[in-house]
Amino acid sequence: MRDIDSKTITDAVIGYCEPETDERLKYLLTHGLAHLHNFIREVRPTHAEWRAVIDKLTRAGSITTDERNEFVLFSDVLGVSSLVDMLNSDPSATAASVLGPFHIHDAPELKVGGDLIRGNPGEQVVVSGHVRDAGGKPVAGVTMDLWQTAENGLYSNQDPNQPDYNLRATMNLGPDGRYLFTTVKPAPYTVPDDGPVGDLLRATGRRAWRPAHFHVIVRADGYKPIVTELFLSDDPYLDRDAVFGVRKSLVVEYRPRHSIEGLPSDLEARSRMKIPFSVIDYDFVLVREKR
Ligand SMILES: [Fe+2]
Repeated sequence: MRDIDSKTITDAVIGYCEPETDERLKYLLTHGLAHLHNFIREVRPTHAEWRAVIDKLTRAGSITTDERNEFVLFSDVLGVSSLVDMLNSDPSATAASVLGPFHIHDAPELKVGGDLIRGNPGEQVVVSGHVRDAGGKPVAGVTMDLWQTAENGLYSNQDPNQPDYNLRATMNLGPDGRYLFTTVKPAPYTVPDDGPVGDLLRATGRRAWRPAHFHVIVRADGYKPIVTELFLSDDPYLDRDAVFGVRKSLVVEYRPRHSIEGLPSDLEARSRMKIPFSVIDYDFVLVREKR
């Protein structure tokens, strides 16, 4: 193949796919490459500009570890992670939001009504609600994964001063799909900005802040799992989330309470709540997995 130019090179590269190439891979490559080549033709980067792109990616690779993935962060701050979430979400289900890098599998089980506060400083919160199907009926057999930052804006796996699995739990719900626990208010935090992603944020005048949030994964047999986040209605960064994770439907009303009157009797920390505390009530909706 020697007779190629700036117009025919796209077809030439695509033409290298042998017939045994997986159909979906071929589709993704063909379309991805066409967009990439068209982008290059359109913006005509100089050699120095393209080298700068390669240098950023090289640096992203060199600082990526099991605990920190700069490529995921690029995907997040460029809005691609959220776009993939949106396109794979069922409109009848609770909106999805970014998983983030701080989830740990197999967090200790917390029973419904259990307490995550366990000596953590900060404003105390009662979080409750139900998991329902698209028709409003409770879903049985739900497991929830819960994780959040402490008052200092750090997750337990970022902060040597927090006990293992601090502010993390797995909760198995009963047939009524009801969940309930006490915790402390999470804090806004910045995504890591000491790598090429940080360079990009600074070069575009952006901030690395994320509004405070509770991370939740909701799953049940036969239903499409939901990976999402709940945001607090009084957070100053709701409209400036560095990773575009906020959805209107995921912003929850954060209501102060001055008495334990009316709190459920199965709330383990009921009698030791620090007044004033706040309550959050939010229902999740799962939809059936398509067969
Ligand atoms: Fe997070």
